[in-house]
Amino acid sequence: MKALILSGGKGTRLRPLTYTGAKQLVPVANKPILWHGIERIVAAGITDIGIIISPETGEEVKAKTGTGARFGANITYIIQPEPAGLADAVKVARDFLGNFPFIMYLGDNLIENQLTPFLETFKQQHLDALILLRPVSNPSAFGVAKVDAKGRVLQLVEKPKQPPSNLALVGIYFFSSAIHEAIDQIQPSARGELEITDAIQRLIDLQKAVEARIIEGWWIDTGKKDDLLEANRIILDTQLTADIKGELDSQSKAIGRVQIGSGTKVINSAIRGPVIVGSNCYIENCFIGPYTSIADGVVLTEVDLEHSVILQDAKIRGIHQRIVDSVIGQRSELGVASQRPKAIRFMIGDDCQIELA
Ligand code: TTP
Repeated sequence: MKALILSGGKGTRLRPLTYTGAKQLVPVANKPILWHGIERIVAAGITDIGIIISPETGEEVKAKTGTGARFGANITYIIQPEPAGLADAVKVARDFLGNFPFIMYLGDNLIENQLTPFLETFKQQHLDALILLRPVSNPSAFGVAKVDAKGRVLQLVEKPKQPPSNLALVGIYFFSSAIHEAIDQIQPSARGELEITDAIQRLIDLQKAVEARIIEGWWIDTGKKDDLLEANRIILDTQLTADIKGELDSQSKAIGRVQIGSGTKVINSAIRGPVIVGSNCYIENCFIGPYTSIADGVVLTEVDLEHSVILQDAKIRGIHQRIVDSVIGQRSELGVASQRPKAIRFMIGDDCQIELA
């Protein structure tokens, strides 16, 4: 069994962060989203992992993620020249996949469930495809499945106007090598992509064994800001353990589950967990509230902050309104220039969103 993680694509919905970096490297609880997926796959006993990368962001993904040794895995990087669809990514990975069955995992997805029970079902029942589904309130925004009482998939449609059910396809699939033949028989869709839903529909038409399981736990596709914040909240809530390596002075307190990396200094501040702070940060006269992740090298002075993700080397100074529900990009600077500011000055990149709430 192999795994194929898709970490190419354009990431348009997470601009401006994705102008300068891969969306799958955006951190959730200070760990790239992609790494959470790799860990899940390795936990299911699969260590031969191919990662689809794009020509634009692939080098960064490769440099940061490495050979796989840190996960106990062996990673092969595969360049997809154009983001021509999920089924195109499988086509591009054909040599790596050979005739092995594999799990296909979208690199920006996170689910609560472990993968092992689904993997067992897939193997024991000799399926050609096992897909995971989750009920959603807005099925028209997703690939949607119609399933019979036994879990057999009858029909799949991509972003239907009239959804046949409320069951959306989660970005995790198990395939036998039969998927390659199905992909060879499909054409690009109206949006110009080779769709994996069309390939699975083709398997159904060919009378192959295609089943679905409904997942009960949470599922997050971190493609947009609010989803990213929600993933950050859930991971901090469920996985963070208290661990303080940095220094808190006698005026500071860390309440609840708080993790602080080495070399970080906290002066006259209160941190109320769950909160993770990376290494070599400087925090003075601040309140840091729950569900906040602060990456390495961040400087915060006179700031009140909660339910936010602050990326590496950002600097925020003297903003007394509480900063909430925010994602601040790497090396960004927010500050005040005078005691009683009367005007607001911006130097903002393309596609940023600023809201004075
Ligand atoms: P999407 O989120 O569907 O697409 P995207 O990354 O281009 O994002 P956006 O809609 O914001 O522009 O992709 C799901 C995952 O699959 C994501 O991790 C990127 C990856 N992917 C590829 O590797 N190759 C592809 O051809 C496509 C379409 C996506």
